[in-house]
Amino acid sequence: MATILAIESSCDETSASVCCNGKILSNVIATQAIHQKYGGVVPELASRAHQQNIIPVVQEAIATAKIHKKDINAVAFTRGPGLLGALLVGTSFAKAFALANDLPLIDVNHMHAHVLAHFIDDPKPSFPFLCLTVSGGHTQIVLVKSHSDLQIIGQTSDDAAGEAFDKTAKILGLPYPGGPLIDKYAQQGNPQAFSFPEPKVPGLDFSFSGLKTSILYFVRDRQKEDPYFLQNNIADICASVQHRIITILLNKLKLASRQYNIKDIAIAGGVSANSGLRSMLTSEAVKEGWQTFIPAFQYCTDNAGMIAIAGYYKYMNNDFAGQDVAPDPRIPF
Ligand code: KG4
Ligand code: ZN
Repeated sequence: MATILAIESSCDETSASVCCNGKILSNVIATQAIHQKYGGVVPELASRAHQQNIIPVVQEAIATAKIHKKDINAVAFTRGPGLLGALLVGTSFAKAFALANDLPLIDVNHMHAHVLAHFIDDPKPSFPFLCLTVSGGHTQIVLVKSHSDLQIIGQTSDDAAGEAFDKTAKILGLPYPGGPLIDKYAQQGNPQAFSFPEPKVPGLDFSFSGLKTSILYFVRDRQKEDPYFLQNNIADICASVQHRIITILLNKLKLASRQYNIKDIAIAGGVSANSGLRSMLTSEAVKEGWQTFIPAFQYCTDNAGMIAIAGYYKYMNNDFAGQDVAPDPRIPF
């Protein structure tokens, strides 16, 4: 039996999960609403909220899983990447819990865990497959050869896809995090209403900072002509921006699929919750002959379920960390 308690605290979600032999028994997520009024995550407030949330969240994860503390065989935690103060709360908790209960520790790379979230539910992808990981801090195309052999073959040179959504939302006067709101407005808009440029980036890499600037100038110039432009066109602007972000992502994914001759394609990370991306990926799959893997919503944005599953595979490989392990905000992939 391998029962793992997992902790996630890399950004603004405090989460705990219990997984038994690769099956998730609980996945409790406390989202920190405090950041909304600041228009983005405030690192110091995130650390404080993690400190307040961590014990009740872990207690709830254990209770929901209907296990006892003594049933736990190992403690997995996010070591990085993420905010240092936020990671420190989860890491310190995991270390203390492991020490007090005489359990081994498993350090998990948050970006590996986003990809390995595909091994929670069925159908599971078979190796090798490609995973487009799109979150608030990262945009990567990952070649996944095994549970422990993951290689980045394309990534962003500036903003992440989630940042492009969030920064666009800020320009449009929408609150943080903007991705889900743009998604919501886009469902009522025309994606062809306005045209935004596709950046010319060689190979499998991405760039989103130029798109953000073009949206900024577009809105500023149109508002000068008509002060109600934004108000009257919010759905069409959101639909058009979202359409451009998705086509940038899917065009690179098509290129990667052809270059590596791989047709098993997965998406992961917070932006994979986007309804437009999910439906365009599904229709692209028909044209390209892809088999696609899209995680359940609760495993797209930050969650400890994905840390638990990543921890489970490391547990099976006897890959443990020592009590001297420290968080690493810029841990290499
Ligand atoms: O993976 P995640 O929860 O945290 C990081 O590791 O960064 O991703 C958060 C990002 C945010 O930028 C948020 O705006 C975006 O995911 N996001 C979305 C949607 N839901 C979350 N973006 C577009 N559409 C959505 N439905
Ligand atoms: Zn994440």
